[in-house]
Amino acid sequence: MNEKLFTVRLSEDGGAVEIIDQTLLPNTIKYLRLEKAEDIWEAIFSLRVRGAPAIGVAAGFGMYVLAQQISDEDYDAFLGEMERIGAYLDSSRPTAVNLSFAVKRMLAVVHNHTGLVKSQLLPLLKAECMAVYNEDRAMCRAISENGLTLVKNGDGILTHCNAGALAATEYGTGLGTLLLGKELGYEFKVFTDETRPLLQGARLTSFELNHAGIDVTLICDNAASLLMKQGKINACFVGCDRVAANGDTANKIGTRSVAVNAKYHGVPFYVFCPSSTIDFSCRSGDDIVIEERSGDEIKTMFFEKPVAEAEVKCFNPAFDVTDAELITAIITEKGIARYPYTESLAKLFL
Ligand code: MRU
Repeated sequence: MNEKLFTVRLSEDGGAVEIIDQTLLPNTIKYLRLEKAEDIWEAIFSLRVRGAPAIGVAAGFGMYVLAQQISDEDYDAFLGEMERIGAYLDSSRPTAVNLSFAVKRMLAVVHNHTGLVKSQLLPLLKAECMAVYNEDRAMCRAISENGLTLVKNGDGILTHCNAGALAATEYGTGLGTLLLGKELGYEFKVFTDETRPLLQGARLTSFELNHAGIDVTLICDNAASLLMKQGKINACFVGCDRVAANGDTANKIGTRSVAVNAKYHGVPFYVFCPSSTIDFSCRSGDDIVIEERSGDEIKTMFFEKPVAEAEVKCFNPAFDVTDAELITAIITEKGIARYPYTESLAKLFL
């Protein structure tokens, strides 16, 4: 992303989570300083900060910010409050495992230092949330480098949703190979699905790629199949919100349609995945909780007038699960996993 923009960071004084408000992009660039638990929760719930790694990083920073506000010095009272704060932030969105991953890491700091008082725990908590952030940067870089081994200069790439710097740190995951590739002289021709209903592809991916000087063309979600038939797509690149042990992958609603289309047309379908997004406690996609959001996102949110009558029912799942068999490879920071993923992911990570 443009050097001057950032997605999420800890404020210099350590007293707030600072984010760019993604609901206003691309038209308005506005940063928010979040100091209260309710504001951090709302920012994640409303997708002001979004994308699996970014909400994990925001939750980690949030736990540290809120830890400083706990009035008790005593260990047990501090632990109790931290557990309450962690459960609250974790309740903002259910599908991306990075959120609970970061909350668990922050809580583990307190659990692993029984008897320390607040003033002793705070520096450890600050170091842990910074580690979550810095590890994400390193993972995104490594994933991007690994992805470059799968493509060649000039390739046509289809993306869905936004898995760039706005969804993570620095390069992001699904867009990282494109952003890093650009820096190294690759010229890709990228087609980005607009990604109904919240338009992360239109509002965020086309913004990020355009500002990086990458050739990007915005398409309606339902145009992807035609482009594949026309031979314009050499590979599909997507991020992920939770990958089960068998490789079933939850990502933005519509991802599964892209994968089914890709399989039919013989186009490789790649999932870019930091280890913080793999949940080995989910045996398959059936164990993944899918977030359901308000029908207003479909009917009214981006329209001057409602596009359907008030009494018409809506079903608005925010994610779907792409079956492992549809995924050509899962690109991680430790290497590239291929089907069957129960074995290949375990070999890389367990
Ligand atoms: O609802 P969102 O915008 O948070 O959904 C985000 C996605 O589905 C991304 O593809 C995913 O989090 C990967 S981000 C590197």
